[in-house]
Amino acid sequence: MVKTIIETKNMSFTYPDGTSALHNINIEIKEGERVAIVGSNGAGKSTLFAHFNGINEPTSGSIEIDGKPAVYEKKELLEIRQKVGIVFQNPDDQLFAPTVVEDVAFGPMNLGLSEDEVDERVEESLKMVGMTGLEKKAPHHLSGGQKKRVAIAGILAMKPEIMVLDEPTTGLDPRGVDQVLEILYKLNQEDMSIIIASHDVEMVTQFADKIFVLHEGEIIDQGTPEEIFNDYETLKKAHLRPPKSAELLHLLKTNGVDCEVKLTVEEAYHEILHAIGAESFHKVLHLIKSQLHHRLLHELGEEHYHKMLHVLEEEHENHNLRN
Ligand SMILES: Nc1ncnc2c1ncn2[C@@H]1O[C@H](COP(=O)(O)OP(=O)(O)OP(=O)(O)O)[C@@H](O)[C@H]1O
Ligand SMILES: [Mg+2]
Repeated sequence: MVKTIIETKNMSFTYPDGTSALHNINIEIKEGERVAIVGSNGAGKSTLFAHFNGINEPTSGSIEIDGKPAVYEKKELLEIRQKVGIVFQNPDDQLFAPTVVEDVAFGPMNLGLSEDEVDERVEESLKMVGMTGLEKKAPHHLSGGQKKRVAIAGILAMKPEIMVLDEPTTGLDPRGVDQVLEILYKLNQEDMSIIIASHDVEMVTQFADKIFVLHEGEIIDQGTPEEIFNDYETLKKAHLRPPKSAELLHLLKTNGVDCEVKLTVEEAYHEILHAIGAESFHKVLHLIKSQLHHRLLHELGEEHYHKMLHVLEEEHENHNLRN
């Protein structure tokens, strides 16, 4: 049976200033899953994430991490933080050492690893995020995207079992987004559970196998990307938009084109091609049958004319089956 790594039960959280940020959160995340929490600004994503490694303690309800109820004592918190690595939304909340290399080394050094092991992990992590060569730079002199990568490297170097990334691709250029997604995929294949928060639905669609929709501190929906991004009511309520491909196909579908809503550009391309292909074919067939009927009958003779129609229809069937 697949292990549950994070489970919350009726978890609510109110900030000291009285802001009620989470209400009755019930979620279950299993080992090896790629989970995305989506929700608009202020929905409570970052607040929820701060519960995953014990920064926030539920005001009511509970959270279990790796099968154990969270305990907010020094020793237990240290254990949780070794297990769950969080990359913060804002890298400035995370980077503090004078140089990149010292920053990335900080976590593994605190795990009491040998110097060689620390060096190895730092080098490997910086290489993974494409930051080799900038080891001696001061983190506050880096660009926004570079800071994000170093922040990710710092958590990678800890080799956590669960990686939680708050808006991991914000501020990254397209190549940077692809690189981060590639890293996350690779880690996931090595059985790391990955949880991200984002309102970038395109990225979420590519990445997640399970999505939770958070709205005003409540989970209002959960499911696969297909389930979530086909539920227009819920998306609207959560002030989210579906991916552009889905929007386009939805528009075509509501305007009478025979097609299904697809989430990625690649799938949408094939769906549209297929829909257009089928439609043109029917038009041609219709033309042949109606307008050219007499002429073709005359030229080909009845038998050949029907054979031709038969071949066309058969080919069309085969085409449909192939697609
Ligand atoms: N330290 C704090 N003290 C008081 N209220 C807070 C604090 N941090 C967040 N909040 C409030 O809690 C709610 C949820 O905020 P949170 O940062 O979790 O949202 P989010 O979903 O991460 O939004 P975003 O997409 O903008 O990052 C908001 O109403 C916010 O104002
Ligand atoms: Mg946030």
